[in-house]
Amino acid sequence: MMRHFLRDDDLSPDEQREVLDLAARLKREPFAERPLEGPRSVSVFFDKTSTRTRFSFAAGIAELGGNAIIVNPGEAQLGAKESIADTAQVLSRMVDMIVWRTFAHSGLEEMAAHATVPVINSLSDDFHPCQILADLQTIRERKGELAGLTAAYVGDAANNMGHSYLLGFATAGMHIRVAGPAGYHPRADIVRDAERIAAQTGGSVTVTTDVDAAVSGADAVITDTWVSMGQESEKAARVETFGAYRVTPELMDRADDDAIFLHCLPAYREFEVAPEVIDGPQSAVWDEAENRVHAQKGLMVWLLSRA
Ligand code: CP
Ligand code: NVA
Repeated sequence: MMRHFLRDDDLSPDEQREVLDLAARLKREPFAERPLEGPRSVSVFFDKTSTRTRFSFAAGIAELGGNAIIVNPGEAQLGAKESIADTAQVLSRMVDMIVWRTFAHSGLEEMAAHATVPVINSLSDDFHPCQILADLQTIRERKGELAGLTAAYVGDAANNMGHSYLLGFATAGMHIRVAGPAGYHPRADIVRDAERIAAQTGGSVTVTTDVDAAVSGADAVITDTWVSMGQESEKAARVETFGAYRVTPELMDRADDDAIFLHCLPAYREFEVAPEVIDGPQSAVWDEAENRVHAQKGLMVWLLSRA
């Protein structure tokens, strides 16, 4: 059966481990797998801006022997002039995989329903699962076995990163705590899905407004922008609402002494994280950014092996 990667829980715990193992191997041996030799092509669509996703997919696809066809916002017929279903059928005749960064998650589901090649979500309003694979790879490099570790994600717990940390970290058997102000908590159905996964993997899920409790003793402290792409008009209100959730050195002091700090980037040092934290010794954000290449290569090799 054709496999897609639209949400973090599209991979079972064993499958997630296989992808992370592949990612670690490809980090050591970047050209060990060449499933796109030819070169065969992958389309990489952007409805929103990007630095890491654009470069990591372009570099990773090239390292797998392939050719990335990058489509910037507004450049294709997709959306305004041609349906998602028709686009999926046309592209499936021309490329080996479709990577898409978009707004509504339902668009990705429709693409996957009509594509006969794997579809990868490179960020939707609801999930950013490729980023979570890179985060898991980074934590594993620093801490070893993922199962049993505790991570605290603080700030906008209702955004794509909040949702993906719940599902992806629960799949890894981790204890995931998310803390955000009332009104900015994750969707109830996603919390339920994460709790169901955690019950199987030995992990756990906590959703709270109490940022100090969430961070207490954590092995990893994580945040994200308070103003996601598409929310720019809400910036002033959001900065006000999320102020108490800023990751400061004092907040990091509540975590484990060896805790690491993660941020998917781009980061705003005047808002969600203090410069002393993101630029300090506990920060693993540059490894995290680099791991986008290796984690996505692992994912693509895994998906192509099942296509
Ligand atoms: N973290 C991340 O996805 O970065 P970009 O928006 O630059 O791709
Ligand atoms: N939550 C952020 C993530 C950016 C990589 C956004 O959607 O803009």
